[in-house]
Amino acid sequence: MAGKVITVAQQKGGSGKTTIAVNLAVAFLREGLSVAVLDTDPQGSLGRWFMTRREGGDPGLDFSTASAWGVGYECDKLRKLHDMVIVDTPPKVDSDLRPALRESDLIVVPVATSQVDLWATESVLDLAERTRRPAVVVLNRYKAGTRVADDVGAALEEAGMPRLTAVLGNRIAYAETLGQGRGVQERGRGAWSDEVEALAREVRARLEA
Ligand SMILES: Nc1ncnc2c1ncn2[C@@H]1O[C@H](COP(=O)(O)OP(=O)(O)OP(=O)(O)O)[C@@H](O)[C@H]1O
Ligand SMILES: [Mg+2]
Repeated sequence: MAGKVITVAQQKGGSGKTTIAVNLAVAFLREGLSVAVLDTDPQGSLGRWFMTRREGGDPGLDFSTASAWGVGYECDKLRKLHDMVIVDTPPKVDSDLRPALRESDLIVVPVATSQVDLWATESVLDLAERTRRPAVVVLNRYKAGTRVADDVGAALEEAGMPRLTAVLGNRIAYAETLGQGRGVQERGRGAWSDEVEALAREVRARLEA
């Protein structure tokens, strides 16, 4: 059976694309799935994460890179070998993003919880719609009980943008583990592991729906 492709995309830089890509990858690994990550961002953060992980021993997952025109081929290859293929993308929405979106069973759009980030979200949701692929927003750096969290939540609802219930809090654990080639769950249990588990569960439910 062919694996599922999840693309993480958002025009806004630093919204948490790479963070969500690696933490989903590690969450799926821990569920016993076979996982590959594909870096299509010339910044190469996902690749650096993987190489750091590899220095620490068997990374437990497969890694590849592709530029826009090679994404289709690479995804095809990886989805035959793995249950989950997670694609990280550069912070822009243009024709180069289209091949990755087209391959996707689900597009995950991180929104660092702020109005500016929300403004940047429309373009990727539009492109997802044009490629007829399902897309969902995930709120990142979420601070429960703050005015901005409430405002962004309300604005998403009003705009009819689909979002996941799971949110990722603003936690140093994400920044630290990213630099160490790990996922937050590999740091032990805490609020961080609960929220990543919830995110992975919801993403899988969407894929199976
Ligand atoms: N929930 C979070 N809590 C704390 N720090 C976070 C969180 N999410 C991301 N970060 C940090 O914010 C920075 C940007 O995150 P990340 O690299 O995942 O964003 P990105 O969307 O991939 O950026 P780019 O657009 O440059 O590719 C990183 O230093 C990361 O560790
Ligand atoms: Mg990135």
